[in-house]
Amino acid sequence: MEILGIDIGGTGIKAAMVDIAAGKLTSDRFRLPTPENASPDAIAEVVREITNHFNCTNRFGCTVPARVEHGLVRTAANIHEFWIDTQVDELFAEKTGCDVTILNDADAAGLASMKYGAGRGRNGIVFFLTVGTGIGSAMFLDGQLIPGTELGMLTLRGQAAELYASARARKRDELDWDEWAARFQEYLDYVEYLFAPDTIILGGGISRPKRVEQYISYLSTKAELLIAELQNEAGIIGAAYAASADHQ
Ligand code: BGC
Repeated sequence: MEILGIDIGGTGIKAAMVDIAAGKLTSDRFRLPTPENASPDAIAEVVREITNHFNCTNRFGCTVPARVEHGLVRTAANIHEFWIDTQVDELFAEKTGCDVTILNDADAAGLASMKYGAGRGRNGIVFFLTVGTGIGSAMFLDGQLIPGTELGMLTLRGQAAELYASARARKRDELDWDEWAARFQEYLDYVEYLFAPDTIILGGGISRPKRVEQYISYLSTKAELLIAELQNEAGIIGAAYAASADHQ
């Protein structure tokens, strides 16, 4: 079975067809820029362009970088506040004529990792942390997703942890990788103190092999620390997988 996966990010909206059995892209990635200060309607237009591009008429899965409860967006840390309280699944379904599964971007990438990537077969408590513009989190207990954890919002040094320890914070504060790693270590210590996960998987921009070399030796955790394998494709694959699981 092939399903379209769409990953909405702060700068780009990426999509591809995904083979659900293999967890692999079966088409080229198609990327359109995220409109500036994008309202849900403006994004819905881009999503329609994408479904047209792929001739998708039945169903697709789509991520948003916010907390999502049953298709309803609840928060908007890195997207326009217009999104709050939008029933995004209905909006996108109306625009495209397809059935739509909406989920948080980190939950999607985490699902992909647990199903096809570094998290395969991991039981106990697993945290997938995606680090880029923000910090997103996905929590799994014995392989089952506990959605909407939003651990980038934990308070660290008086502010949301993602404002202190994300990749964007590193650039903003012009930190070397060892300096950033010291901040991220504080964050990991806090997550471990609160939840004692068995495994932590790092995804997002910091999971690119060239990046990993720059900071990994500075980090230490009680949990087993793994690097996500699917990198840029994880959100797309997880979105498609979620849409397929919804349909079963
Ligand atoms: C949002 C999360 C999202 C994360 C990564 C945070 O600002 O609140 O929902 O998963 O960024 O994009």
